Amino acid sequence: MAERIAEEKINEIREAVDIADVIGDYVQLKKQGRNYFGLCPFHGENSPSFSVSPDKQIYHCFGCGAGGNVFSFLMEIEGFSFQEAAIKLAERTNVQLDFDASATLRKKAIPEHFRQMVEAHELLRKFYHHLLVNTDEGQNALEYLTKRGFSKESIEKFQIGYALPSWEFVSNLLQKRGFSPEQMEKAGLIIQRERDDSYFDRFRNRIMFPIYDHQGNTIAFSGRALGDDEPKYLNSPETPIFNKSKILYRFNQARAAIRKQQHIVLFEGFADVIAADRAGVENGVATMGTSLTSEHITVLKKNAQTVTICYDSDNAGIEAAHRAALMLQEAGLIVKVAKMPDGLDPDDYIQTYGEEKFRNEVIHSSLTLMAFKLLYYRRGKNLQNEGDRLQYIEEVVDEIGRLDKAVERDFYLRQLADEFSLSLGALQQQLSQTARQKQPKTEERRSAPEMNTIPTPVIRQGTLKPAHYEAERRLISHMLRDSEVAYKVHEMLQGQTLNVDEHQAIITYLLGFYEKGHEPDLNGFLNYLEDNKLKRIVADIGMMTINEELSDQELNDYIKQVLKHQKMLKIKAKELEQKEAERQSDYLRAAAIAMEIIQLRKSL
Ligand code: CTP
Ligand code: MN
Repeated sequence: MAERIAEEKINEIREAVDIADVIGDYVQLKKQGRNYFGLCPFHGENSPSFSVSPDKQIYHCFGCGAGGNVFSFLMEIEGFSFQEAAIKLAERTNVQLDFDASATLRKKAIPEHFRQMVEAHELLRKFYHHLLVNTDEGQNALEYLTKRGFSKESIEKFQIGYALPSWEFVSNLLQKRGFSPEQMEKAGLIIQRERDDSYFDRFRNRIMFPIYDHQGNTIAFSGRALGDDEPKYLNSPETPIFNKSKILYRFNQARAAIRKQQHIVLFEGFADVIAADRAGVENGVATMGTSLTSEHITVLKKNAQTVTICYDSDNAGIEAAHRAALMLQEAGLIVKVAKMPDGLDPDDYIQTYGEEKFRNEVIHSSLTLMAFKLLYYRRGKNLQNEGDRLQYIEEVVDEIGRLDKAVERDFYLRQLADEFSLSLGALQQQLSQTARQKQPKTEERRSAPEMNTIPTPVIRQGTLKPAHYEAERRLISHMLRDSEVAYKVHEMLQGQTLNVDEHQAIITYLLGFYEKGHEPDLNGFLNYLEDNKLKRIVADIGMMTINEELSDQELNDYIKQVLKHQKMLKIKAKELEQKEAERQSDYLRAAAIAMEIIQLRKSL
């Protein structure tokens, strides 16, 4: 990105933005005293160790050590550069930048030589949408959508459009705008005729759903026939900018809601995503008419802990849901499956039963994976029939054997015993038999999700830190607030460095920051630092509560602690040297070293 944002603009953004507001888009925050707390979005955890200080405009996680200001938050969570984070925040706070920043941001994901393709898609998206909502030609299509329950807001939000029933309109439009036909064909928008090498439009007389990549670039279309024409949906082919097995429909728009709820609802069709959105389900995405791939799962896993599968409740849909559920479980996600009356898809359901019922009775009442499996094995069986019944029981016992928790196993086993009037003892015996047969595999399966739920804290809360460590943190904390103190500490150290390398790096940068004429400014200093690790530590120190006033006595104590540790290290080194001298029977040298050690001890 060529444009650099001026420092005054950065300051303007900082003034306008509130960190709790921004982080609140990704994390459910609860106010407690002066600060907010929530579950850390950077590592899996069940009790909140992530805190945000609105006074200081910084955040810090006691669990994994993540920390910084609002800029570093966006950099970490969205993978942005500093400039990109600033652009995002400028948009949010209505700070005007002197270049088209949002376009800059979106283009980033697309290599230069494919930008033309994206630009053509952006142009056509606007054009199709305009045709649908503003013109007579689009009237018919608009009526079709309205009849199907698409609201005006949805049509706007999802930028739905209409392609004319013309063979050459788009093809001509693109050429007139200077796009190369060869490239437009590669982008999947037009097709070359065999007979005379001329081009015609791929999408004709269809409702157009733009497909965005995960950065918000328009990269493909799916066109739905107005009536019963075949195919029902015509999609862009795979192109250099569109890879079906990676893209999730409307992921970009849903990302913030997904992160915040740590929950994704997975649909099969666009119409389902759009209808569910109308019903208030803002964390819904869909695959692109393909089955779920490992690439999709990587995206899901990076953004949420739980996935609710909400597929059509016909045979194909239930089979697909079962396959998807196993893959998601294998990846360590918590899986739920929404259940609808036979044969309906989510869009039909909302049309028939309404939005509220969909939220409450489908999404919020979705089944646990085990409950879904119980239903799944029941399908196509007549449980009155002995053979079917025995097969069902065997399949279910096998599933129960795969459960992690003894309590869960017991619960389902009792349920099964009750339902079929079996003795619990017999089922338990069956369970231990299957478990023995399957042991290695079962073990594997059990360990995968567990590993995922254990947080991996870098610094555990409450770990006792040595005195010099705490003293250095307190010194830095005061140095961050007062440049006089910073210079004074520097002087008192007399060329010695702090014991913790990162602490020393921080004060070196901090002195540089003050030398450049900056006032004490925790947040500004976080922007000034480029190293992520140092930012985290500064945010952590920034979160400490300390006395505003620093007495000379206190300052001296801290410095003493720091220097004392260095002397202790020296003494230890000398002691080793002394032992070595003794080992070599060099008693003279050993005695000399012993004297040095005594001197050092005295100076402590
Ligand atoms: N699909 C496709 N090509 C088709 C049919 C379907 O790519 N010929 C994909 C689309 O992404 C569609 C999804 O599969 O959204 C689900 O298909 P289906 O259930 O048949 O469509 P619905 O989503 O129910 O669409 P509608 O309600 O418009 O019939
Ligand atoms: Mn449908």
